[in-house]
Amino acid sequence: NDAPRTLLVTGGAGFIGGNFVHWLLTNSTARVITLDQLTYAGHLATLADLTTHPRHVFIHGDIGNRELVSQLLIDYHIDTIINFAAESHVDRSIDGPAAFVMTNIVGTFNLLDCARAYWSQLANEQRDRFRFLQVSTDEVYGSLGATGYFNENTPYAPNSPYSASKAAADHLVRAWYHTYGLPVLTTNCSNNYGPYQFPEKLIPLMIAKAVRGEALPIYGDGGNIRDWLYVEDHCRGIVRVLEAGRAGAVYPIGGNSEKTNLEVVDTLCDLLDALLPHSPHCPHRQLKTFVADRPGHDRRYAIDASKIERELGWSAQETFTSGLRRTVEWYLNNQSWCQQVTQDNYAGQRLGGG
Ligand code: NAD
Ligand code: DAU
Repeated sequence: NDAPRTLLVTGGAGFIGGNFVHWLLTNSTARVITLDQLTYAGHLATLADLTTHPRHVFIHGDIGNRELVSQLLIDYHIDTIINFAAESHVDRSIDGPAAFVMTNIVGTFNLLDCARAYWSQLANEQRDRFRFLQVSTDEVYGSLGATGYFNENTPYAPNSPYSASKAAADHLVRAWYHTYGLPVLTTNCSNNYGPYQFPEKLIPLMIAKAVRGEALPIYGDGGNIRDWLYVEDHCRGIVRVLEAGRAGAVYPIGGNSEKTNLEVVDTLCDLLDALLPHSPHCPHRQLKTFVADRPGHDRRYAIDASKIERELGWSAQETFTSGLRRTVEWYLNNQSWCQQVTQDNYAGQRLGGG
């Protein structure tokens, strides 16, 4: 059945969800219903250009609201749920884990249960077409030493309240497939970067601080490694999994682009030197400051993405060099977006100072 899909995209006013909604409306004929609670991390500014789009509807609400979710599924004849909604920041999960348990675990449970009740009432052809895609993370696998990669068979070993809550949600998703037959898919992706990322995460935080001439806080020795993927490549991966993934399957997604945090910050500083040659803060590397380490800080993440490459023909298109340059340019050209999203309810103290 090739009819355009009608997707419920949760967390679509956040970073990856926002990029995904834009990507889908530009590159497909799908209809998109965005459900977002607009926490500190979700902003209508991210969807501002879509307010009158004929194939997009925005709903302000909580994935944990059973009545709301059940009604949306029926009213909009949803055939696909993509769950981006989450509390996503590791540092915040250390300071306040309760919201992570509520949204990431209880909220995902609610979505699954509403989806099952709705799906079980559908006619056969629509039941076969229905998909529930859980957007998860490589952090559920824990921390790697100097060698080796995470793949779809790696046992879960989460170390932070954030990753533990995502791991719990993934287990619920798996159980709803094995027990009830709900056609679920799970993606476990590495660190994303690109436009619309809230400036508490490493890359946008460093850009925002460097532009203002503030200290760039590097946790510990700066040697922790992340595997960076440009957000549009992640969005294309999710679409491929939706189009051709096997129900019940898990697909790790990664950029094959490992960098230490120091390498990331140095590259950002050099890009800013080149793009802002008259800034009084050049050379921006002088702003680097080593601060106390994150408790339980995972040392290295790296994804073996060969399953999605082999089975679904996906591969990352953006290199780290080109993607990071696009990202820095986007933030320099969209400083008003940054101001808008940080002006309310932004607990920046710990996030800036380690
Ligand atoms: P984000 O924090 O930028 O956005 C999360 C969005 O979810 C926000 O718009 C927020 O308002 C919304 N939300 C939070 N609680 C909600 C609730 N109860 N009901 C409805 N909406 C709610 O996060 P992100 O970085 O875009 O991550 C999106 C998803 O991808 C998350 O599930 C995250 O675990 C996963 N992920 C992120 C990365 C990454 O590098 N950022 C990598 C892999 C996986
Ligand atoms: O791996 C995927 C995960 O990537 C996602 O599941 C999470 O939602 C997302 O937040 C991200 O988690 P990280 O903890 O890796 O991202 P963060 O940007 O917070 O930090 C990246 C690295 O940079 C990490 O090693 C900690 C370090 N760091 C971070 C901040 C905010 C610093 O050194 N200084 C900082 O100020």
